[in-house]
Amino acid sequence: MAQFPITRMRRLRQSGAVRRMVQETKLSADQFVYPLFVTHGKNVREEIEPMPGCYQVSLDRLHDEIAEVVGLGIPGVLLFGIPSLKDAKGTGAYAEEGVVQEAVRAIKKRWPELAVITDACLCEYTDHGHCGIVRNGNVDNDATLELLARTAVTQAQAGADIVAPSAMMDGQVAAIRKALDAAGLTETPIMAYAAKYASAFYGPFRAAAQSAPQFGDRRGYQMDPANWRMALREVELDVEEGADLVMVKPALSYLDIIAKVRECVPLPLVAYNVSGEYSMVKAAAKNGWLDEQRAILEVLTSIKRAGADLILTYHAKEAARWLQAER
Ligand code: PBG
Repeated sequence: MAQFPITRMRRLRQSGAVRRMVQETKLSADQFVYPLFVTHGKNVREEIEPMPGCYQVSLDRLHDEIAEVVGLGIPGVLLFGIPSLKDAKGTGAYAEEGVVQEAVRAIKKRWPELAVITDACLCEYTDHGHCGIVRNGNVDNDATLELLARTAVTQAQAGADIVAPSAMMDGQVAAIRKALDAAGLTETPIMAYAAKYASAFYGPFRAAAQSAPQFGDRRGYQMDPANWRMALREVELDVEEGADLVMVKPALSYLDIIAKVRECVPLPLVAYNVSGEYSMVKAAAKNGWLDEQRAILEVLTSIKRAGADLILTYHAKEAARWLQAER
């Protein structure tokens, strides 16, 4: 390859039109999924303090939120539920009339074409805040599997298009696949939170979902941020267990993991741009320390560039709006 002065990299950077022509990564609303917190009660639309622009919304107020998402061309939402009652077994997660199950029914009735993805986990529904059943101070993997399977089945029966197990229990994808198939739900895909790290960046989400563990932490089941080979193993196992899409979570501190998974797995790859990543940008922008729009589009572009096909992001609505305005 020729060197300077024959080669000048700046030649292709001179005009907007040429920059556009050589741009390698293009963002589009088609790749966004908007996470939503559905809460019990009536007439609730409460802003989540560390996540400005995001709300806990009750069923009866869901309409405006979904209409906005659909209007912006975002193809899917990811639902989290905040039940009225939490108990040791997370009963609300797999209740046929649970808050998420009801939300799915309401949304699918009105917007059958919107992809509704449900988080299959117990932590929003347990009084101790852990993602599974606790026995002797420990989260019991095998006893949890059946409850996660029931959660996924009730969600799919309510009409969820995709179920997304996030509890990081071993064997959860296989258990859910088996239960879905036994219930005749052979066509429901599983989006596996395959490489999910024990991250400080879930802090704002746990405030929003009131799901912080009441004792200990999640390091006994979520991954150590220091590990990458283990992430590949997690992904490989989920693929073998029948995952249809695999996820890396969080996204920003784990772009290397996204890139590595992209190289070795042909399945659609999902990245979760988590709550703490959202809060950081919002807080800095509020202080005037960052150009909000540029920072957010840069964040999302970098996640796509690393190899993600789909981005779960609280920025979905604003980013879709900016991308529309650019055209
Ligand atoms: C539930 C779950 C969590 C998130 C998604 N699903 C919280 C956790 O593992 O503590 C975090 C999402 C975010 O921070 O945006 N297991």
